[in-house]
Amino acid sequence: MVIRLLLCVSVCLAFAAIPRLGLSDDSALELFKQRITPILRAPNASSCTECHLSGVDLKDYIGETQEQTFASLRSAGMIDVNNPDDSKLLRFIHRTPDKPTPVGEKVRQQEYEAFRAWIHAAVKDPKLAAAKTDSDQLGPTVPLEVIRHARQDRVLQSFVENIWSEMGRCVSCHSPELNRNKIGRNGSTEEDVDAISWVVPRDPAATLQKLVDTGNIDTDDPDASQVLTKPAGLEEHGGGPKFAVGSRTDKNFRVFLKDYAAIVNDKYNDPTQLPKPSKEFAVLTGQHLRIVDLPERFHEKLLRADIYRHTDAGWSESRWGTAENPIAGKKQMWQSMVMATAARGSDRAAQLKPDVPLPGGRYLVKIYIDREDKTKQDRDYELGESDFYGQVEFHGEWKVGYQPPKIVHAPAHD
Ligand code: HEC
Ligand code: HEC
Repeated sequence: MVIRLLLCVSVCLAFAAIPRLGLSDDSALELFKQRITPILRAPNASSCTECHLSGVDLKDYIGETQEQTFASLRSAGMIDVNNPDDSKLLRFIHRTPDKPTPVGEKVRQQEYEAFRAWIHAAVKDPKLAAAKTDSDQLGPTVPLEVIRHARQDRVLQSFVENIWSEMGRCVSCHSPELNRNKIGRNGSTEEDVDAISWVVPRDPAATLQKLVDTGNIDTDDPDASQVLTKPAGLEEHGGGPKFAVGSRTDKNFRVFLKDYAAIVNDKYNDPTQLPKPSKEFAVLTGQHLRIVDLPERFHEKLLRADIYRHTDAGWSESRWGTAENPIAGKKQMWQSMVMATAARGSDRAAQLKPDVPLPGGRYLVKIYIDREDKTKQDRDYELGESDFYGQVEFHGEWKVGYQPPKIVHAPAHD
């Protein structure tokens, strides 16, 4: 009795959950049936999904029988028979995100304890030591590149580059920190304004989650996502059109939404299907550019201004900034927020930060106008040399804000 008690105490300390099952000969099998199989059958996602949006799941590592599971995991190097606690699978389960959710943390703990208990029992089981597997190896079914691409940190990086970087266009109405002045205007109550406060200030991960939870990202039909259709003017929007269909912003939003939907729906199974990273890195500067004296007939045509900087070696080889918007023909002008741009991987790209203005100095603005509405017919069309309209130079200080913007005159034409 005393011995059993002592045994229990030490075992209890070692594996908190084992004693209620007893330590009979078939304890490994019991543990597998009682604690591992339920993970395989569970409808909810495993703790892996806190960091892997898709591509891997703990269920991928569980076979139909414990013999198959053990033999396969052992041959894949996921179980360390000599030092069970060093098993790679336990290390995977033990990985914890910086900000774990309470639910995720509980699931992780249960998974960890279940696998730890089973692996400890299994390595001592002579029947399992002799087990062989000739069936397919357990583990993820997609290649490593796909697993990497579907990692939450990669997905978040893409969200930041493609959507969050443009939030300056949205925050005045959608950030709870900046939209309080909308309460009471046009009959909006505090609840109305709270209901559209999908921006979580300074937290892109939480903002992405909120866009998903509020149904503003449509993973069945990404192009139909309200986060795109409303500001692109394809659907009624309380804030009016915020960017043009076929513009850079429209393209970037769509790149993210399409990729996100493909990841969530497990559409990738080959590295060649993954989107290529863009060659350029861009952030909003807070500066605005206005071009005046544009012909009225260009009303609503998309105009892109590429901004080159004067350097010791002449005009910069690649653009330092870019801006895109439709022309307001009646006013014969065009205006847009300006993004700073740099080739991905370049020194300048490493230094670009949101809200840091382009320095004062001498700049060349190259103007492209979509005279034939090619971007309306093909949203992926990029304005190129055939759409070039003219260029102008300016220099001096360039203040942040839209009042006043930097104003340049359209080059004389026709
Ligand atoms: C805290 C975040 C986090 C959690 C949770 C997480 N992983 Fe990972 N995983 C990563 C990161 C980061 C990498 C890539 C870098 C590395 O391997 O260290 C990775 C890589 C992988 C790889 C790639 C190949 C390899 O051998 O490294 C596999 C497979 C994998 N994880 C499986 C899992 C499984 C299965 C789970 C759940 C049991 C899981 N991960 C839980 C962050 C996590
Ligand atoms: C001038 C204010 C204003 C700006 C700026 C603005 N919006 Fe809106 N937006 C609204 C209002 C008002 C509504 C609520 C009415 C409606 O659904 O159109 C709304 C609704 C939305 C909704 C639906 C919210 C929900 O959960 O019902 C989304 C998504 C959205 N906007 C996206 C954007 C994006 C993306 C931007 C920036 C590119 C943006 N908006 C800029 C005013 C604005």
